[in-house]
Amino acid sequence: MKFFIDTANLDQIKDAQELGVLDGVTTNPSLMAKEGITGRNNILKHYVDICNIVDGDVSAEVIATDLQGMIREGEVLADLHEQIVVKVPMIRDGVKALKYFADKGIRTNCTLVFSPGQALLAAKAGATYVSPFIGRLDDISTDGLNLISEIRHIYDNYGYETEILAASIRHTMHIIDCAKVGADVMTGPLSAIEGLLKHPLTDIGLEKFLADYNKGN
Ligand code: E4P
Repeated sequence: MKFFIDTANLDQIKDAQELGVLDGVTTNPSLMAKEGITGRNNILKHYVDICNIVDGDVSAEVIATDLQGMIREGEVLADLHEQIVVKVPMIRDGVKALKYFADKGIRTNCTLVFSPGQALLAAKAGATYVSPFIGRLDDISTDGLNLISEIRHIYDNYGYETEILAASIRHTMHIIDCAKVGADVMTGPLSAIEGLLKHPLTDIGLEKFLADYNKGN
């Protein structure tokens, strides 16, 4: 399973990179705004800064919602850095844009996916990644994890190569549950990744090992 961090915060991205298990970064306009990154040039520069910290894929989202606008923006984003993956919303013109980018060899992440049908369309259009938002489904009393299972089942039926990027991960159990049902990638906060580290028996066991070692020294 690939681990992506879902933030535009450079310090957190550095921390995650230093942990040694980071495979990429996802961002969105809200995450950029949260870091105070506004204005086209600043946003483009920030994407390059992120690419210079991590080794893996960095999703950069288009703002346009019409085909020509998405194509224009996507091509600029893709030219910024070889690690950039163009993030395209799951709307009618977005599907056309996914197909256009796939034909041109530009990698894409289809975002704002909330149903198996949307995920099927994204795969048919040649998306590199599909991003089902499981936390936002959970927020409205719908089983987000079940969506991951349904997409896995559909993609396996037909051998689609689009990678399932479980997004809107909110906590550590989301990561474990997504791993169990076969998500290819997860993206979430660093705190959710760090939660995987923790077990009280590890801490107790280590304390005892060190105490016993020190008895003899
Ligand atoms: C994914 O690419 C999105 O940026 C993200 O996971 C959305 O998460 P949220 O629902 O916590 O805002």
